[in-house]
Amino acid sequence: MKRITIAIDGPAASGKSTTAKLVAQRLGYLHLDTGAMYRAITLGVLRQGIEVTAREKVEAFAQAADLFVEASGLKGNRILLNGIDLTAEIRSPDVTNNVSTISSYQAVRAVLVREQRKLASEGGIVLEGRDIGTVVLPKAEVKIFMVAAVSERARRRKKELLTAGIEIEDEEIVKEIEERDRKDSTREVSPLKMAPDAIKLDTSNLTIEEQVTFIVDRARKVIDAGGNA
Ligand code: DC
Repeated sequence: MKRITIAIDGPAASGKSTTAKLVAQRLGYLHLDTGAMYRAITLGVLRQGIEVTAREKVEAFAQAADLFVEASGLKGNRILLNGIDLTAEIRSPDVTNNVSTISSYQAVRAVLVREQRKLASEGGIVLEGRDIGTVVLPKAEVKIFMVAAVSERARRRKKELLTAGIEIEDEEIVKEIEERDRKDSTREVSPLKMAPDAIKLDTSNLTIEEQVTFIVDRARKVIDAGGNA
């Protein structure tokens, strides 16, 4: 049975992570949250006291960084930077507010994209991010572009943050999401964009189960057709 690659892209808080993880579990695939990699570099930069706008210093930091990602579909991704487990800390508001700047730097992307392609080289993996279907894996057999209304994304983000014990005003969450969407889709290098051959999935009125089933059904069709449907 062919083990394909599945690309799930979309804007901030569109439900990619939860969906990608469950899709991976159903198919017995790995799951790679590429946003977590950009977040880990961002946290490392902040901890080193490097200014996020000091592009060359940030790029040098990323090039020298020893990043380890456990792309497990079962347990969720675990991420270590220079030997330190940062899995929980990368979700902090400080990281969220700075990650779009750092992910706009070409050399940072080059380092991470190389690693992402290496992890995906044998197939059997679901990658989620912003540029997976367009840049990282243009030949992915299944490409999904997930979208949802900002109000719905804010509602989901709030729930997620509360679970992590972080309380933020609704207005601030909407502002953060819109700002990140703007930065991610207008940057010069690999902007957030739907690949021409991706399937657009509006999840505003879908349950997680419906989203997952849609993608798994699509993947199974492609797998049954030997990777070419
Ligand atoms: O998916 P996320 O919200 O955890 O991603 C955090 C940031 O990382 C996002 O705002 C933009 C960046 N990112 C990216 O530029 N390319 C990717 N493939 C994944 C994330």
